[in-house]
Amino acid sequence: MSEKPWDGRFSQKTDQITEAFTSSIDIDKRLYAYDIEGSIAHCKMLAKVSVITEDEASSLIQGLETVKKEIAEGNFRFDDSLEDIHMHIETRLAEVVGTVARKLHTARSRNDQVALDVRMYLKAETLNIISLLTELRKAIVDFAKTRTHVVLPGYTHLQRAQPVLLSHHLMAYYEMFSRDTDRFRDGLERVNVMPLGSAALAGTTYPIDRHYTAELLDFPKVSANSIDSVSDRDFIMEFLSSASICMVHFSRISEELILWSSSEFGFIEFSDAFSTGSSIMPQKKNPDVAELVRGKTGGVFGSLIAILTMMKSLPLAYNRDMQEDKKILFDAADTLKACIGIYISMLPTIKINKDIMEQATTTGFLNATDMADYLAAKGMPFREAHNCVGKAVSYALGKKKELHELSLEELKSFSSLISADIFNTLTTEQIISRRKSFGGTAGENVIAAIEKAEKDLENI
Ligand code: ARG
Repeated sequence: MSEKPWDGRFSQKTDQITEAFTSSIDIDKRLYAYDIEGSIAHCKMLAKVSVITEDEASSLIQGLETVKKEIAEGNFRFDDSLEDIHMHIETRLAEVVGTVARKLHTARSRNDQVALDVRMYLKAETLNIISLLTELRKAIVDFAKTRTHVVLPGYTHLQRAQPVLLSHHLMAYYEMFSRDTDRFRDGLERVNVMPLGSAALAGTTYPIDRHYTAELLDFPKVSANSIDSVSDRDFIMEFLSSASICMVHFSRISEELILWSSSEFGFIEFSDAFSTGSSIMPQKKNPDVAELVRGKTGGVFGSLIAILTMMKSLPLAYNRDMQEDKKILFDAADTLKACIGIYISMLPTIKINKDIMEQATTTGFLNATDMADYLAAKGMPFREAHNCVGKAVSYALGKKKELHELSLEELKSFSSLISADIFNTLTTEQIISRRKSFGGTAGENVIAAIEKAEKDLENI
């Protein structure tokens, strides 16, 4: 058993089963670079305020760099008895630089140290996620830009409702992922707060300069209350909440693409490179990527629920329960990054069956609203027009025809306001091009929205 940095008051050795149970090294070793960067800043600060000498600081810093290199190169032995990454680094540092290593932990505790490490990790990871989402938004815009001539039925209640441009439909997802990006960026403000120097919970008697540490580590803010600093995990809850919302969007797009790729819809085909087969049914080509993204959504929601539940009854300040935050956070961030990444690659390879989509807009009375609008434009109050067209739909259903397949005489029997110009009104093209209200599906609107998105993406 290695000697533990905290074992002075203990007369018995820790049971191995306790060591294995309390150890978090398998999870938190990935924080090593942040832990060392934080320790280096801490050394510089301690030297600046003369708690340690410049010489001591420089040998500590050199030693920390050595340990970092060892871990990066895989020449480092991890051991459950040393619990976590903080104790591993400190213990190894003592072997590398000798007794001066014992000064590193002056004016800090693992409680503020771990809070710092997780904030540094999450800051970097949030920025990675924002840049991945930006790439995905670009991919959506590129796809939408070249599909402004493709129409498909828009749905409500999964029933055909009104025709829309495929680009308009896709740009709805652009909006969702843009809001996700904003949410992650906004959350950074709460992540970007420097907790080190709060020590165990009450602050420290040493004349430390926390603002200097923050400056070295590029944190714009220093946490204001030492008790809150070591027990605050709101920033993780907020990140996991943003991640969950983002996964809702991935799950929705996945569900649509899965439906659209079915024989029943036939709207799209996934490329072979992003599909898998069946071990028994030779004909199968399955949309597993989209299905897995939809499935992984549950795990990310689980992380959010886990952190909320874990935190909800914890008394101030630090409690060991909080060690569990990292596994769920890392899992959720890794999952989200993987989902964004695969969509960036998969999206451009999706084949659109334009003719099938277009054909689908001509059945199911997608032009009924426009026939009501036609009557309303000729002076009939809209509610009356709605009722009149409802009757026409019922009549057409009986004849197994669409509204535009009825003869002018048949149509006129529902209202004398109807004349031959109605047929032009009932085409998919007209239905779409007349929806010029801001945010509507008319081609010129959609093209303008795409151009605005391109500009916004350029200015990032
Ligand atoms: N491994 C711990 C965690 O992740 C670090 C802080 C431990 N502090 C303590 N007093 N036991 O939360």
